[in-house]
Amino acid sequence: MRVVRTSSDLKEGLAPWRRAGERIGLVPTMGALHAGHMALVAAARGECRRVVATIFVNPKQFAPNEDLASYPRPEAADLEILQSAGVELAYLPTADEMYPPHFSTMVRVGGLSEGLCGAHRLGHFDGVATVVTKLLIQSLPDCAYFGEKDYQQLLVIRRLVRDLDLPIRIVGVPTVREPDGLALSSRNLYLSAQERRVAPELSRVLRDVATALEREPGAVRRETERGLAELTHAGFDVEYLEIRDAESLAPVRDLVTAAARVLAAVHLGRTRLIDNVPVASSPATARRG
Ligand code: PAJ
Repeated sequence: MRVVRTSSDLKEGLAPWRRAGERIGLVPTMGALHAGHMALVAAARGECRRVVATIFVNPKQFAPNEDLASYPRPEAADLEILQSAGVELAYLPTADEMYPPHFSTMVRVGGLSEGLCGAHRLGHFDGVATVVTKLLIQSLPDCAYFGEKDYQQLLVIRRLVRDLDLPIRIVGVPTVREPDGLALSSRNLYLSAQERRVAPELSRVLRDVATALEREPGAVRRETERGLAELTHAGFDVEYLEIRDAESLAPVRDLVTAAARVLAAVHLGRTRLIDNVPVASSPATARRG
């Protein structure tokens, strides 16, 4: 596996593959790699001849009060993981490489970026959209892989690729979970043993809400309230729990009529956790209706 740190070395590494007409897949990450990231690499390997992974802890997506300084950066271990997963090119730019002096352009995706995590992490999705746009343009892959774990992020990226006419297919990969349901996340490393025992309650509550809504699509308000109460009771400090349209993220107010998503963000001690699960629109109800 070749490791490059500048966009010109990245281009040089990609050139022979592009000349040969080989399909290239891109997996952007912030490192501290786990099986969730590796599911993206596996999906890329399944569809592309060549896989490029990026590791960049993007300062523009962290607010001043967030964990940029303490975000884990186990570079040597990450590179070994990528290499053994068959990644052939790893791009680890420095902050100066991505944002040279006088850098002043930001990509902002209106609407989709504004609610949910966007309302609690001001500027976060502008930072994500800007860095992902740059990574996509620098590497111009055929496909780029993102996790459903960060569902709002996935939709923001799909939208920016459409709006900016980037000729790249965005592939969403289902969330990888621990056996007890906890979604894998680099931030799980922050959890104490006691918090780690509580953390899977987040996915359990979201799944329960989704199941209830599949049975009873009109119970949106009741299930939102029950979900919030259960999360608080479990010991989470809840940022939000919401039921949203799975495509537009528009609020689902009364009745689940199309595919929806239950999304939540919580704090557990000093750790912020997010998760989301699908709600299938009920074919039984539609048939009866
Ligand atoms: P990071 O949190 O490192 O995640 C990189 C990719 O892995 C994202 O697409 C994320 O959704 C996916 N991922 C994380 N945990 C996952 C899990 N349990 N199952 C499946 N996929 C999972 O997300 C970012 O970095 C950054 O915002 C980035 C897109 C790299 C831009 O800086």
